[in-house]
Amino acid sequence: MEQYIIKGGTPLNGEVEISGAKNAALAILAAAIMTDETVTIDNLPDVRDINVLLKAIEEIGAVVNRVDRHCVKINGGTINSVVVDYEHIKKIRASYYLLGALLGRFKKAEVALPGGCEIGTRPIDQHIKGFKALGADVLIEHGMIKTNADELEGNHIYMDVVSVGATINVMLAATLATGKTIIENAAKEPHIVDVANMLNSMGANIKGAGTDVIRIRGVEKLHKTEYSVIPDQIEAGTFMFAAAATNGNVLVKNVIPKHLEAITAKLLEIGCAIEEYDDAVRVIGVEKLNNTQVKTLPYPGYPTDMQPQIVVTLAIATGTSIVTESIFENRFKYVAELARMGANIKVEGNTAIIDGVNQLTGAQISAPDLRAGAALVIAGLVAKGFTTIDDIKYIHRGYENFEVKLRALGANIEKVNSEKEAMTFKLKIG
Ligand code: EPZ
Repeated sequence: MEQYIIKGGTPLNGEVEISGAKNAALAILAAAIMTDETVTIDNLPDVRDINVLLKAIEEIGAVVNRVDRHCVKINGGTINSVVVDYEHIKKIRASYYLLGALLGRFKKAEVALPGGCEIGTRPIDQHIKGFKALGADVLIEHGMIKTNADELEGNHIYMDVVSVGATINVMLAATLATGKTIIENAAKEPHIVDVANMLNSMGANIKGAGTDVIRIRGVEKLHKTEYSVIPDQIEAGTFMFAAAATNGNVLVKNVIPKHLEAITAKLLEIGCAIEEYDDAVRVIGVEKLNNTQVKTLPYPGYPTDMQPQIVVTLAIATGTSIVTESIFENRFKYVAELARMGANIKVEGNTAIIDGVNQLTGAQISAPDLRAGAALVIAGLVAKGFTTIDDIKYIHRGYENFEVKLRALGANIEKVNSEKEAMTFKLKIG
């Protein structure tokens, strides 16, 4: 079983290059099958979720040609099935984007329902409401979501909750509906804008992405495009907090600083210095960080995907901090692991009350999900002694070459496969 082994205590220093945004890329790959022409997508992150989705796309008959690690050409002209039941697809949440994409193009889709998730119940009622509003029937049967329509017709849809997934899914289907669709209370995340830009480059007519009202005028068909995915704001934020927590000095490159404003604001508040460039951000740590309060919110608020990283950082700050999770109801599971490293955190409902301690100490811990896993790596980097992290498969879902990028910044981290390899690392590092 793969594990990370980390020896903490070294400040991160140097430069790191951020990969393409996983959550934008997942939707963009689904959008790519909405035409029978060839779509080229660049700046793809080479992470597990992307590779699973590409395999699922191939399984329904599309031609997937991996030009290189970060570029793929997809031709959906040979799709021969609208049933997506590839065995691994249930493990990735974004499988549901194939529903919107296939429904839009073929007016019919059957996709395995995304499985139980580690961070909350994650209902999909808003996706279903959106598809129904466009005239589709939706049925959940034998673990599959089945949807079909004689014709999709534009409609006025008010989202009851701000949902990234539902906004994108309805946008995908409505692109090839007749008439005009208006999505109100839409999510505004950078990846919503990226998916809309990509669809527009294929001939769609989408306006207002990035605001809470998106207007889509349906078009008859989409065509080929070449598109480059935006940088991953959460990967960038993770390295920014890793720099802050280790009292390091890191230039985070290939980012859009505007997308990082909520993260930058919190880093400034806790005492870090930030230098902003056109496409890079430098984070300079301080000996002792300040406490703060933060509540996760939809964009442009502080992202839920950055919640564990700030909690880990505040665990070694001065005084008491309060972090409220308002998006997912079960996103503090990793706190029990942090407690084993000496953190003093109390969770009451959706709030974590963090009393900063002087030092964390290394322990054997497990990654409960993707972002918490990355945050526990940060904890390992600041802790005294050795930390071993199990279940790092979660981290590989969304971080490309995580340990390699960290090592280049001076971190003592290794991916190991056996007790023997762990021992070799310990002997080498001392
Ligand atoms: C996306 O999930 C991301 N996943 C998540 O990233 C991210 O945490 C989340 O957006 C919030 O930013 C992908 O893009 C693949 P939502 P999504 O629909 O779309 C409720 C990561 O680590 N809701 O915006 O599933 C829901 O329960 C992952 O990369 C409904 O009630 O999230 C939640 O409380 C983890 N009904 C809130 O809305 C619905 O139909 C926001 O969820 C849909 C959502």
